[in-house]
Amino acid sequence: MKQQLETIRDSALQELAETKTQAELEGLRVKYLGKKGELTAILKQMGKISAEERPVMGQLANEVRGVMEDHMAQRAAQLKEESLKARLEAEKIDVTMPGVPCELGAKHPLSIVLDEIKEIFVGMGFEIVEGPEVELDYYNFEALNIPKDHPARDTQDTFYINDNIVLRTQTSPVQIRTMEKQKPPIRIISPGRVYRSDAVDATHSPLFHQIEGLVVDKGITFADLKGTLETFVKRLYGEDSVVRFRPHHFPFTEPSAEVDVQCFNCHGEGCRLCKNEGWIEILGCGMVHPKVLSNCGIDPEKYSGFALGMGLERVVMRRYNIDDLRLFYENDVRFLKQF
Ligand code: FA5
Ligand code: MG
Repeated sequence: MKQQLETIRDSALQELAETKTQAELEGLRVKYLGKKGELTAILKQMGKISAEERPVMGQLANEVRGVMEDHMAQRAAQLKEESLKARLEAEKIDVTMPGVPCELGAKHPLSIVLDEIKEIFVGMGFEIVEGPEVELDYYNFEALNIPKDHPARDTQDTFYINDNIVLRTQTSPVQIRTMEKQKPPIRIISPGRVYRSDAVDATHSPLFHQIEGLVVDKGITFADLKGTLETFVKRLYGEDSVVRFRPHHFPFTEPSAEVDVQCFNCHGEGCRLCKNEGWIEILGCGMVHPKVLSNCGIDPEKYSGFALGMGLERVVMRRYNIDDLRLFYENDVRFLKQF
């Protein structure tokens, strides 16, 4: 029996030295020390040997078990360290390697100038409000004094979602939404995207941006409108900038005007950009029509107001001498990097 025990010990230790994984090690433990293991099998034969031999063999068997357990524990620790080393090696990072440069983005020219415009108006006491781009026909047209058969609908070629819902063609519906909710004094601007099925050219896009302005209070006159716009234009373009007011017609303002800036490309001579007019239209404006005020529950006998709607793209073109609006939407980094 002594010999059997020693044989088991030796072969176990040899196999142990060859194990490569924790799973193999566990296999060995079961093979030798498990309930049906080889050592256990020998211990079961204890009853067959003589009474004197029994304690000696018992002690030897315990020694063998102890040695095997010690070695297995050692091997387990070794295997653990080896696998850790292998993982560290695999996950090694060379911190001296040059990095991948991360390109910083920049603000789009439309956003830069919109922020300036907001700042100018906020400085004059205006609040900023927003409205929906998918709009009811009522707010985009009807409440603005443009009934279904009105010819003004043709000048703003409209994308219809259905009979009652449109992609807003102007930011003017925000005037109505604001006057419905808020009583005078009102002093707001409302920037946002608008849509028209216009053909694309150097100054037209089917998606563009407008900034609506609305002031309603007691005693507001056309002089307030002119003063506000002149202050605005001089702050944005400088003291020497040339603008003109031109009589116009909008169904929701009376009287109405359009404001042009002198063409920066030809300085009024006439060129491709301004279609030989020497001027570029940047906004429409006027005194809020009494019917529009009363549509919103504001008494036109007590209150008056002015409104304006400017085209952001046109304003930004003049600001940076950009001669084609399409550049804003082509995402060419050579263009965008210049701002
Ligand atoms: C209007 O949209 C009126 N709602 C403006 C207004 C507001 C008048 C409040 C009175 C009171 P108009 O259709 O002219 O007006 O457009 C206003 C501005 O948007 C134009 O002056 C122009 O700068 C710009 N614009 C118009 N169509 C386009 C387009 N397709 N692409 C780029 N800009 C455009
Ligand atoms: Mg116009």
